[in-house]
Amino acid sequence: MISLAIVSLFVSAGVGVVATPTRRPLPLVIWHGLGDRYDSAGIKSVGNLAQEVHPGTFVHSIYLDEDSDADRSATFFGQVDEQIATVCSQLSTIPELSSGFNAIGFSQGGQFLRGYVQRCNSPPVKTLITFGSQHNGIADFLAECKPTDFICRTASSALLSSKWTPWVQNRVVPAQYFRDPEDLDAYLEHSAFLADINNERPGKRNKTYADNLASLERFVMLMFEDDTTVVPKESAWFAELNRTTGERTLVEDRELYKQDWIGLKELGDRKQLEFLTTPGRHMELSDELLTDLFKKYLGGKVSGEKVESWVQDVEL
Ligand SMILES: *[C@@H]1O[C@H](CO)[C@@H](O)[C@H](O)[C@H]1NC(C)=O
Ligand SMILES: *[C@@H]1O[C@H](CO)[C@@H](O)[C@H](O)[C@H]1NC(C)=O
Repeated sequence: MISLAIVSLFVSAGVGVVATPTRRPLPLVIWHGLGDRYDSAGIKSVGNLAQEVHPGTFVHSIYLDEDSDADRSATFFGQVDEQIATVCSQLSTIPELSSGFNAIGFSQGGQFLRGYVQRCNSPPVKTLITFGSQHNGIADFLAECKPTDFICRTASSALLSSKWTPWVQNRVVPAQYFRDPEDLDAYLEHSAFLADINNERPGKRNKTYADNLASLERFVMLMFEDDTTVVPKESAWFAELNRTTGERTLVEDRELYKQDWIGLKELGDRKQLEFLTTPGRHMELSDELLTDLFKKYLGGKVSGEKVESWVQDVEL
């Protein structure tokens, strides 16, 4: 569709020289995880890998502060709603992204990118891939802070002591996606981010959230089989774990899906929802795995199906 529009532009402009639009992969936007920074070596190598797999890919790494230390600090402290609003305006001003882009979110960056899609999505995300994200929240906080990592330790102790106070909900990032199924009432009452973005509050469900998420071309969720950092790891798939019985309820069997509060069922019905699993601990990603995923999902060859809009034609 995009290519047609651009081709007709060439025609109507009556360009004398034969213009051959060059096909370029869709841009890629990355949102890093807790304790990471937008310009870390790891994030850069992911961007480089995406460019090796699909040469010409424009890559943008989301930041909340251009200062690297402040950006890392913002993964622990801040208001997620405000952070997403900042990212909405950041992405809307990048010309390369204006026709849409693919996005990958690492750990908490995954549910925050989903927040971007549900709240703004302008420009729109085509394919969203999340890695070990906490879509259904965390029921415990087990980040391993180094003894010298004051920021991590402060966030961790605030979270464990008084997670539902407005003070903590307004400041400590992981507290805003804390969700213990055994204590849902407190969560529904106090959660500053997740209960809203997951449309879990009766009478306060926002249809735009569902429409926007359902507008994705593909939503891929990867869970790490041996993840012990995210409790429960099943959160990466929107699944719920009864920690007493060990019983796992997949998203298809949850009200969130059955009543389609956020558009997941619509995606599922269209076969645009994928649940992947990989051996390994939280965020243990090999170049091989990333290469395979990038080939399969970011380049357009999606399970052998043709996704028309995977490339945008640009004039060089
Ligand atoms: C629903 O979400 C959209 C997108 O964030 C927002 O513009 C709108 O105000 C929200 N509606 C309500 C009733 O909160
Ligand atoms: C977990 O299972 C136990 C035992 O069946 C049950 O009492 C409890 O309500 C379950 N928790 C949730 C959140 O469903």
